[in-house]
Amino acid sequence: MAEVAGAACAPPPDVDSDDCLRDYRHLFSPDILAGQVAFITGGGSGIGFRIAEIFMRHGCRTVIASRNLQRVSEASKKLVAATGQQCLPLCTDVRQPQALAAAVEEALRQFQRIDILVNNAAGNFLCPASALSFNAFRTVLDIDTMGTFNASKVLFEKYFRDHGGVIVNITATLSYRGQALQVHAGAAKAAIDAMTRHLAVEWGPSKIRVNSLAPGPVAGTEGYRRLGGKWAEQGSLFDGIPLQRAGTKTEIAHSALYLASPLSSYVTGTTLVVDGGSWLTSANSFPALLDVWAAGASTAP
Ligand code: HXC
Ligand code: NAP
Repeated sequence: MAEVAGAACAPPPDVDSDDCLRDYRHLFSPDILAGQVAFITGGGSGIGFRIAEIFMRHGCRTVIASRNLQRVSEASKKLVAATGQQCLPLCTDVRQPQALAAAVEEALRQFQRIDILVNNAAGNFLCPASALSFNAFRTVLDIDTMGTFNASKVLFEKYFRDHGGVIVNITATLSYRGQALQVHAGAAKAAIDAMTRHLAVEWGPSKIRVNSLAPGPVAGTEGYRRLGGKWAEQGSLFDGIPLQRAGTKTEIAHSALYLASPLSSYVTGTTLVVDGGSWLTSANSFPALLDVWAAGASTAP
C-alpha cells in the first residue's frame, strides 16, 4: 500500500446531522462486539448516536435511552436501517434511579444481557459562575454526575455484579485548566473522572472495567453548538490545537469502541483524552468567552 503523509491523523468521514454515515470502512475487526449488548444513555443524538452506530457496525445490539422517546425512536429506526442490528429505544431520565431501573429491566427482558454501559447523557451551556443560579449548577451535576452514578449502580446491581461488564464514561477536559464559563460542567465531569477510578478499584474483582473518555470540541454536536464551536471555527481558533481542527463524532466513537472492546482488556481506571491535543494549547480567555455568552451563542440553535 502506498504511504500517505499524515494518514494516521486524518479523520474518517462523518456527517454533521444525527444521521448514519454514508460510507464506512472498518478499521477494527467487524465482529469485535459480536453478540454483545450496549446500553447508551443519550444515544439518540450527537456523540451517543454515533457511538451506537459504530458499536452496531461491529456486531453489537444497542439500547439507546433518554428523556425524549420520539428522539430515540427515530434514531433507532435510522440505526437499524443502516446497520441491520437491533436497537431498543427507551424513555428514561438518568436523574431518576427508579426510571433507570425500569429501563434496564426492559432491556434485559429484550436482550437477556447487557455487556457495556456508556454514560453519555449530559447537560451543558455557557454561563459565568456569577450568573449561574444554584439550581442551574445542581441541574448539571444531577444529570452528569448523579446520572453516571445512578446508571452505573443500577447496571451493577441488575447485571454486572454477576456477569462482569464494561463502563465508558463520557467526560471532558474542562476542569484541567479551569475553563471559563464552565464551572458547572467542569466540576461535574471531574467528579465523574474520580468516580471512574473509585469504581475501577472496587469493581475490578467483579470483572468490570471502568474508564473515562474525554473528548475535545466535536463538530456536528449540541455541545459544539452551545459552547461556541462555530465562533471558534470562524475565528480560526482551532488552528491553535496541535492537530489544527475539531474532532468528529466517529473519532470519539472509535475511541469508545476501543475502550468497550477486548482490545483494552487490561485498561481500567483511566481517562482517555481524545482532543487532538486541544486542552494543552487552546485559549481560555474569560473576556472573549463572556462576549460569546453575551451574544447568545450558549443558547443559539
Ligand atoms: C444559565 C441556565 C441555562 C443557560 C438552563 N439554565 N439553561 N442557566 N444559562 N443557558 C438554568 C435554568 O434557568 C434553571 O435554573 C436550571 O438551569 C434548570 O433548567 P431547566 O430548563 O429546568 O432544566 P432541565 O429541563 O432539566 O434541562 C437541563 C438543561 C438543558 C441542561 C438546562 O439545556 C438540557 O436538557 N440539556 C441537554 C442537552 C445538552 O445540554 N447537550 C449538550 C451537552 S454538551 P433556575 O434557577 O432558573 O431554576 C456537553 C459538552 C461538555 O456536555 C464539554 C464540551 C467541551
Ligand atoms: P447531545 O447530543 O445533547 O447529547 C446529550 C444527550 O443526553 C441527549 O441525547 C439527551 O437526550 C440526553 N440527556 C440529557 N439529559 C438527560 C437526562 N436527564 N436523562 C437521560 N438523557 C438525557 O450532546 P453531545 O454534544 O453529543 O454530548 C454527548 C456527550 O459528550 C456528553 O456527555 C458531553 O458532555 C460530552 N462531550 C461533548 C463534547 C462536544 O464537543 N460535543 C465535548 C466534550 C464532551 P434527551 O434530550 O432526549 O434526554
